[in-house]
Amino acid sequence: MRLRLLLLLALCGAVPTAAARSLSLRGSWRIRSGNGSLELPGKVPGCVHSALFQRGLIQDPYYRFNDLKYRWISLDNWTYSKQFKIPFNISKWQKVNLIFEGVDTVAKILLNSVPIGKTDNMFKRYSFDITTVVRSVNSLELRFQSPVLYAAEQSKAHTSYRVPPACPPPAQKGQCHVNFIRKEQSSFSWDWGPSFPTQGIWKDVRIEAYNICHLNFFTFSPMYDNHTQGWNLEIESSFDVVSPKPISGQVIVAIPKLQTQQTYSLELQPGERIVELFVKINKNATVETWWPHGHGNQTGYNMTILFKLDGGLSIEKSAKVYFRTVELIEESIEGSQGLSFYFKINGLPIFLKGSNWIPADSFQDRVTSDLLRLLLQSAVDANMNTLRVWGGGIYEQDEFYGLCDELGIMVWQDFMFACALYPTDQGFLDSVRAEVTHQIRRLKSHPSIIVWGGNNENEAALMMNWFKINASELHTYVSDYVVLYVKNIRQIVLARDKTRPFIISSPTNGAKSVEEGWLSANPYDENFGDVHFYDYTNDCWNWKNFPKARFVSEYGYQSWPSFSTLEKVSSKKDWSYSSKFSLHRQHHADGNNEMLLQIGFHFKLPEGTDPLQTFKDTIYLTQVMQAQCVKIETEFYRRSRSEIVDGKGHTMGALYWQLNDIWQAPSWASLEYGGKWKMLHYFARHFFAPLLPVGFEDQDVLFIYGVSDLHSDCKAAVTVRVHTWSSLEPLCSAETQHFVMEAGRAVLLYKELVPVLLARCGNCTRQSCVVSFYLSTDSQESQLGSPTNHHFLSSLNETVGLQKAHITAIISQQGDTFVFDLETSAVAPFVWLDVGSVPGRFSDNGFLMTEKTRTILFYPWKPTSKSELEQAFHVTSLTDTY
Ligand SMILES: *[C@@H]1O[C@H](CO)[C@@H](O)[C@H](O)[C@H]1NC(C)=O
Ligand SMILES: *[C@@H]1O[C@H](CO)[C@@H](O)[C@H](O)[C@H]1NC(C)=O
Ligand SMILES: *[C@@H]1O[C@H](CO)[C@@H](O)[C@H](O)[C@H]1NC(C)=O
Ligand SMILES: *[C@@H]1O[C@H](CO)[C@@H](O)[C@H](O)[C@H]1NC(C)=O
Ligand SMILES: *[C@@H]1O[C@H](CO)[C@@H](O)[C@H](O)[C@H]1NC(C)=O
Ligand SMILES: *[C@@H]1O[C@H](CO)[C@@H](O)[C@H](O)[C@H]1NC(C)=O
Ligand SMILES: *[C@@H]1O[C@H](CO)[C@@H](O)[C@H](O)[C@H]1NC(C)=O
Ligand SMILES: *[C@@H]1O[C@H](CO)[C@@H](O)[C@H](O)[C@H]1NC(C)=O
Ligand SMILES: *[C@@H]1O[C@H](CO)[C@@H](O)[C@H](O)[C@H]1NC(C)=O
Ligand SMILES: *[C@@H]1O[C@H](CO)[C@@H](O)[C@H](O)[C@H]1NC(C)=O
Repeated sequence: MRLRLLLLLALCGAVPTAAARSLSLRGSWRIRSGNGSLELPGKVPGCVHSALFQRGLIQDPYYRFNDLKYRWISLDNWTYSKQFKIPFNISKWQKVNLIFEGVDTVAKILLNSVPIGKTDNMFKRYSFDITTVVRSVNSLELRFQSPVLYAAEQSKAHTSYRVPPACPPPAQKGQCHVNFIRKEQSSFSWDWGPSFPTQGIWKDVRIEAYNICHLNFFTFSPMYDNHTQGWNLEIESSFDVVSPKPISGQVIVAIPKLQTQQTYSLELQPGERIVELFVKINKNATVETWWPHGHGNQTGYNMTILFKLDGGLSIEKSAKVYFRTVELIEESIEGSQGLSFYFKINGLPIFLKGSNWIPADSFQDRVTSDLLRLLLQSAVDANMNTLRVWGGGIYEQDEFYGLCDELGIMVWQDFMFACALYPTDQGFLDSVRAEVTHQIRRLKSHPSIIVWGGNNENEAALMMNWFKINASELHTYVSDYVVLYVKNIRQIVLARDKTRPFIISSPTNGAKSVEEGWLSANPYDENFGDVHFYDYTNDCWNWKNFPKARFVSEYGYQSWPSFSTLEKVSSKKDWSYSSKFSLHRQHHADGNNEMLLQIGFHFKLPEGTDPLQTFKDTIYLTQVMQAQCVKIETEFYRRSRSEIVDGKGHTMGALYWQLNDIWQAPSWASLEYGGKWKMLHYFARHFFAPLLPVGFEDQDVLFIYGVSDLHSDCKAAVTVRVHTWSSLEPLCSAETQHFVMEAGRAVLLYKELVPVLLARCGNCTRQSCVVSFYLSTDSQESQLGSPTNHHFLSSLNETVGLQKAHITAIISQQGDTFVFDLETSAVAPFVWLDVGSVPGRFSDNGFLMTEKTRTILFYPWKPTSKSELEQAFHVTSLTDTY
């Protein structure tokens, strides 16, 4: 949704004139350190770190150990100042406001040396009445306090009881007491990110001057009325009436494409006024609904609202309106003790496929619309339909949600509380209430947001006692929890947004948690709500380790980003798996060893003599391991969609942790910092495909399930092939009969004892063979793609007959795309095409190559050339690391 504010000025000569003027204060400001030893220009929106970097006063903060070296920046108290002239006659205006869309975070604000206000919450919008202070020439100053010192002070002042955690784990090299400041929680460090507690004006700032009456904001909510079977639109607008007399006029709302136009008369009393309109969409018009990606179009309708008020004031706004319904279904399931937990969009149950979103940079001023588009398009290109905006980051910028609307990405929107307990003194609650009210107002018109979540993992933190709270003290924290998330946040959400569900936490047991007083004894119960699941020590190829839960909103495995990405922030001495740098960048205690352990279950660890090659091979293997682990886990969740086994199943969501990276470091992400696709992201494109065959074994029996996210049934057949590792010709290949693949279901298509299959296919062994399979269908919808899948019959450290593959590529250009014609000398697992830091992605990568030739496309994100690609190109397959 893009809101466009058009202020049509109708100057009729009377004083005061009904009109408004706006002055942007973006651009260049002065920034001064606490004791004045440093003074430099800096951009707004922006932050101190970025200003120092742009001025050449510091290196790239992400380079090597700079996160430690530059700690002093966030420990100092910086001042932002700006001198500016008002380009219009200031005394003509009845009301002048100074508006900050976002201040990061704790600051005292002075205009012409007069204190006009304070800020302490980066998620709030601040508006200060400066009518009596503003002059034609002004000096504006924001005196920031170090967020680290502020958080420490607040924590110290909270003497009645501790509010844990005090500090992050040492591996995170972070700052303490982040739960005492309303700021991006991960800015004090996380297990995938550095500690860069920024200071600055991170969003728009401007002055607005007006007479008589001003429109502050405007939101709308399309709602379906089940009784009249028609769509309605609730529109809320907020006015500041500064005229001493009531003003009246008309509002005209129009959606031409839906043959809807309605006129209302309006009378506004002096003061802050809310106007609520209820628009009935013409029932003669056909309303096309907004659908998630893969389920239909993202149709939206242009709407205009025109306020024609006394004194010739007219204000026109336009916006895009999307119609959709969302329901969270928690109902009993036959054969199970628990309740379902799934979403219906426009009445249709939809399996939520996707990942979790974290801030795309420690420095938000570096997050451009182009970067957002690249990352979100990559999500859609991997067949995702959902992202969870995780509660330890930020409420994302408007562009983010606009793109999600446009691309059909459903957003699970957390409120920004994560992995901690929080204070509930009145000052804190007031700040949170303003934050929540503002964010709902800002975001509620977006169809992409389908659910609000109160917090990340705080129900679990309390009930699983992460912070070792004494049983006798638990009631204090439970009471705080209910006060913050139920009596405040939930209460505001229910009052202000009726168009999407609210859940209190993730993971939660949903209705069961509510029944247990908002906190369940075990929030990870697979019979209720959503779960988060991590297991680094057991073999990820064993699907029996995974929870057959209703909805899995977090799960994952780490990997290292590619060498080309690391190279940008490291030097030669860093390039080994056990270097100080490799340890420093790993913020999850023992994470590097966990990756090796998981690799060791099925692959050989590199033993070469060239240290750099060994490092690169290890990076490659971490990506192979991660891709394979998340594939097996996700396929398990998708194939569990239609069945109940021992009371468990009916899984309707799989959101792996995590989509994107905040810097260049090992993490659970499938997209590297900057957007390069890891092997996992290419795998996601397959394992999230709308029509997917899934293979797995149980007690020597090979099962193949067919998973369909399509809206209609189709006819399908499975072809099962057995290859020996030593030959590019399949040993055998057989197609089953056609059968009906039901829409929106996962069903068993094929099963055979592995020894029988192998005997039938030329008596190869588990070690010498691999199974591949694919679906053939008559469905038009399946043109969306059904990938070939495969199943390993043994670990890849014990294969027999696997040869070193020599793979060559001939590169040619076709329009904007590049064609890679590949040829291999032998069957090759995990073929990885890499063009270093040339931005772009391949049509497929990390694949099992069982045919002699294969054509892969490369889609560049910036102009490149055949010769640049030839120079950068490198191909690796598994045996290259042996
Ligand atoms: C000013 O502050 C900086 C950073 O905290 C410090 O390094 C410097 O010594 C201080 N200078 C003076 C004159 O106090
Ligand atoms: C920052 O301000 C706080 C109090 O507001 C003060 O205690 C602290 O010493 C200041 N830090 C620096 C580096 O000036
Ligand atoms: C600004 O407006 C005031 C009140 O209308 C008027 O008295 C004053 O002369 C104007 N100043 C300028 C510079 O136009
Ligand atoms: C509307 O009615 C249908 C059919 O009666 C029902 O399935 C659906 O849940 C209702 N939707 C809402 C939002 O109440
Ligand atoms: C809907 O169509 C009917 C029949 O053409 C017409 O009489 C009626 O006025 C239309 N209603 C609206 C609201 O346009
Ligand atoms: C989506 O839009 C296209 C192009 O406007 C149209 O042909 C198609 O029928 C629409 N699909 C659905 C499911 O509405
Ligand atoms: C809807 O509004 C947008 C932006 O104002 C405009 O570009 C587009 O042409 C409009 N579409 C229609 C169908 O009027
Ligand atoms: C828990 O209680 C014991 C005994 O009352 C006390 O020694 C300990 O400090 C308490 N622990 C915490 C974390 O408050
Ligand atoms: C392969 O790895 C597994 C797990 O580490 C191990 O048990 C097995 O002995 C290995 N096989 C070979 C041939 O090295
Ligand atoms: C596999 O071996 C068995 C026993 O040696 C033999 O009877 C059978 O024909 C063989 N099958 C194939 C497909 O080669």
